[in-house]
Amino acid sequence: MFKKDLISILDLGDDFQEVINLGLKLKRSRYQPHEAVQGRSLGMIFEKSSTRTRVSLETAMYQLGGNAIYLNPNDMQMGRGETVQDTAKVLSGMLDIITYRAFRHENVETLAKHSSVPVINALDDREHPLQLIADFMTIAEKKNRLDGMKFAYVGDGNNMVNSILLACSMTGMDVSIATPKGFEPDKDFVQKAKAIGAKTGSKIETTTDSVKAVTDADIVYTDVWVSMGQEKEKEEKEKIFRNYQVNSDLVSHARKDYIFMHCLPAHRGLEVTDEVADSINSVIFQEAENRLHSAKAAIAYLLSH
Ligand code: CP
Ligand code: NVA
Repeated sequence: MFKKDLISILDLGDDFQEVINLGLKLKRSRYQPHEAVQGRSLGMIFEKSSTRTRVSLETAMYQLGGNAIYLNPNDMQMGRGETVQDTAKVLSGMLDIITYRAFRHENVETLAKHSSVPVINALDDREHPLQLIADFMTIAEKKNRLDGMKFAYVGDGNNMVNSILLACSMTGMDVSIATPKGFEPDKDFVQKAKAIGAKTGSKIETTTDSVKAVTDADIVYTDVWVSMGQEKEKEEKEKIFRNYQVNSDLVSHARKDYIFMHCLPAHRGLEVTDEVADSINSVIFQEAENRLHSAKAAIAYLLSH
């Protein structure tokens, strides 16, 4: 049987806009069950912490008429050596869809390869596709369009940046990524984004100059400097990234009606100041709420295809 996975935001291809629209539609019919999800079960494997992803997926399944099971690898046989392959086959026999938040991208790929049901990447070391659906829903709500704008990202060239590069290039949005030297985004993702952007009209720029990135931006985005699993690098990174804080000075270079976004959790006083995070331009909590509606859209989309 053919099944569709969501491992990279690129997996949505031309359907990205359709999934965004579905999220906006499901937001308006909050408690209505969905026929593709009713009576279905989701298993959620989390190797790392989560607030938004876990709560949005679990609530999404409940509201759409299905159920969700939280799976902590430490409590599973996977934590005692059962292979990802065997886990995939066992879970596929009982569940209708699986989400996996993993340290290693390869494990998400393996789970998807050996599962007969759809697998969603709930964040790994390469990407965070669920976040991008919520982010682009939020941009569509605030700006009424996706193309012809400038998206600026300031901070670490991490998993969020990889998905941002792809999502911007897929929708024809210009993107400028400012990181300190040595923390640039993965070259493969930059190349992929440039190739897609050549067709959609999206310009892709990487720089070490945060002012350059933010100048005339419609969207200013940041993420933590220290991602989950990098805790040992905290002290060193906080020194290196000091000049990459999103603060009032920096956003003064953006367009007047810019929106500030952050996937959250935020480390206030580090990558962003309270002044920016709580400003009238900030949409971080609308963006967080949209994780629920976008989770519904992703699940309903995968279970309908
Ligand atoms: N943005 C995000 O994925 O948040 P959580 O880590 O809380 O799930
Ligand atoms: N880059 C962050 C995103 C958290 C949602 C991390 O991987 O920890």
